[in-house]
Amino acid sequence: MQMTEQPIGIFDSGIGGLTVAKAIRKFLPKESILYFGDTKHLPYGDKSAKVIQEYALKIAGFLNNNGCKMIVIACNTASSLAHDTIKKTYPKIELVNVIDPVIKKAYKPNSCIGVIGTKGTIKSNIYTNKIKEKDNSIIVKSMATPLLAAMIEEGFFKDEISQTIIKNYLSKEELSGIEQLILACTHYPLIQQSINTFYNHKVTIIDSASEVAKFVKQVLKKKQLLSQSTSLNDHFYISDYTQSFEESAKRFFGNDIVLKEVSLSV
Ligand code: DGL
Repeated sequence: MQMTEQPIGIFDSGIGGLTVAKAIRKFLPKESILYFGDTKHLPYGDKSAKVIQEYALKIAGFLNNNGCKMIVIACNTASSLAHDTIKKTYPKIELVNVIDPVIKKAYKPNSCIGVIGTKGTIKSNIYTNKIKEKDNSIIVKSMATPLLAAMIEEGFFKDEISQTIIKNYLSKEELSGIEQLILACTHYPLIQQSINTFYNHKVTIIDSASEVAKFVKQVLKKKQLLSQSTSLNDHFYISDYTQSFEESAKRFFGNDIVLKEVSLSV
């Protein structure tokens, strides 16, 4: 098979990366997707850098062995903690993280940007460092919101429980005065509507999924790797079967998706 027709490999700890995969399908409808949700090790957000790097390397190896022409780390925690490790181990593969395209989008001199994500992402300080490196006039207010990914993974999106938790986090002093909010976790687009409602649409919400998908398109075009195929061959792998993953994957990609459980022995 020609390199252009090989799938784009996408991974996350669970369903969050499906938001990125869906945006990639929208912007690049001819690209096949090979998705890996590491449901066995979910959540990533509370784990050490060492462990995330171990998981991420195994998954990158799996995607590479399955012929993926590109790997998209559709997880902020793994992008923060394991991007460089993957790059070092697989220097030849096109590797995209979910952080850089988002920072580019949010860039506005003298502004105040909020960032919410897992403990791993926020503790790594990657957003603050990268934004400040670009422009020190920008104030960055970041806060870990560890309950959100678990809540979403369990299927709580638009109900009273999720509204209460969202309100509780976003009312905190740590985020006061922000003009934009970066959703630095790929699970969060699923609660974007509630976040918008909380802010009464007065804060611009930066959703990584579409920014990452546009960036993926640019890279594939530049490297002449865009698919011309008329038939899609998607595969969805998980390291431990969960019903909520199956439901979400079907909701995002249709009922006829092929979902397989695979053990990567970590
Ligand atoms: N979706 C992931 C992220 O973007 C991680 C959620 C989790 O597993 O804690 O960070």
